[in-house]
Amino acid sequence: MRRVAPNSQWRSGEPNARSGTGLLYNPAMALTRLGILISGTGSNMKSIVAACEAGEVPAEVAIVISNRTDAKGVAWAAEHGLETAVLSHKDFANRETHDLAIVDRLRAAGVDWVCLAGYMRLLSAAIVDAYPNRILNIHPALLPSFPGLHGQQQAFEYGVKVSGCTVHLVDLELDHGPIVVQRTVPVHSEDDEDRLAARILIEEHIAYPEALRSLLTRSWSLGGRRVVFS
Ligand code: GRF
Repeated sequence: MRRVAPNSQWRSGEPNARSGTGLLYNPAMALTRLGILISGTGSNMKSIVAACEAGEVPAEVAIVISNRTDAKGVAWAAEHGLETAVLSHKDFANRETHDLAIVDRLRAAGVDWVCLAGYMRLLSAAIVDAYPNRILNIHPALLPSFPGLHGQQQAFEYGVKVSGCTVHLVDLELDHGPIVVQRTVPVHSEDDEDRLAARILIEEHIAYPEALRSLLTRSWSLGGRRVVFS
């Protein structure tokens, strides 16, 4: 079992005015550097940026990378003063060379942890092995149910009464790695897929910062598939 030390720049103290959790950030210490990978709107990216800026997550966003030139989130990130890069997969011969180029950019930006936030590409070993147990993904369903595309729609059509979202560590299988945080939402009789997806997205924006905060501030270990916080 591998143990991971808590991030040392946080200490117990006065309750944080925003979160009331009793953790304080010491700005004199180095922050964990995040690389965020997106393909679209980037609302989860924005929730991570906001949580970092509010001091709720002891990290800073070092770079935002998109595989799509038209990703709205990239424009937002650039306007927000963040470093951005667009590496279109269409410009590379295969998945591995594309991923290797992404790793080069992540390393050049000094990234410690990678957050997939609506990144619509499978990762090859080129990235997963470069950041072992340091890549997170968010999926809009309660894994292991409804992995893959359109998790909200899959759950709705299946007729579940509860759905939600999952933040998990990334391995080589799609939507598969150890689970860090799950948040649930009810499915109402009058729902349609869009209403359910909107309800889940609200929870996604809480779950991603919550997962990062836990992983960066608490001791944790991996026991098989289980992420165990102590
Ligand atoms: C989210 O529903 C996320 O769970 C999924 O893709 C969507 C991305 O949304 N992986 P956004 O780009 O973060 O707004």
